[in-house]
Amino acid sequence: MTITFTEPNQQDRWENRYAKGATGWDRGESSPALDRWLPQMPVPPARVLIPACGRGYEVITLCQQGFTVTAVDFAPSAIAALNLELKKRQAQATVVQSDLLAWEPPQPFDVIYEQTALCALEPTLWPEYADRLCNWLVPGGMLLGLFIQTNRAGGPPWHCALDSLETLFGSDKWVWPEQKDQTIGHPSGLKELALVLKRRD
Ligand SMILES: C[S@@+](CC[C@H](N)C(=O)[O-])C[C@H]1O[C@@H](n2cnc3c(N)ncnc32)[C@H](O)[C@@H]1O
Repeated sequence: MTITFTEPNQQDRWENRYAKGATGWDRGESSPALDRWLPQMPVPPARVLIPACGRGYEVITLCQQGFTVTAVDFAPSAIAALNLELKKRQAQATVVQSDLLAWEPPQPFDVIYEQTALCALEPTLWPEYADRLCNWLVPGGMLLGLFIQTNRAGGPPWHCALDSLETLFGSDKWVWPEQKDQTIGHPSGLKELALVLKRRD
């Protein structure tokens, strides 16, 4: 999956992808990675953030499990699709249309489910975004991360190499798992590196 942008700003670019139905990243359902992680998450109604939620299938899964969910994306079509689905299912979540690099939550979260959000951002923005993820979590909070592996230059999606992630989420601020090579298939045919990091106290 290579996403080629011709439009002037990032928000318009992503919105146009939704408008054209050019959403090769979209699973059409909640990721099986989330099902695997549910047993290790804090008990509901723990507060969960999904940044760059897209159409937000995982928002629905987490609401159905009783979590208190906040979802953020700046593409109006993605937000509208998620709001419609929540209404259909009579589920409740806080859905915010905003740029993640300009948004601040009123309270930190127990868990962040980060699915192909980092890879959507220009790598020059990664250090700022990683700081934000850390600040958005309570001490001891969990970052459930799915990081796309393209093994090529350019993006989006930008390749999230393990060594870049280790630098970005340094062990001074994050507890890393022993196993760092677990992957899961992505609808694009690529793989996502699946990592659970814990924010240090
Ligand atoms: C590859 S899609 C992934 C969507 C969703 N996580 C999924 O897996 O289906 C990237 C998403 O990031 C959103 N996005 C990109 N940059 C953003 C930003 N700076 N602030 C908020 N949303 C952003 C796009 O609108 C798009 O929905």
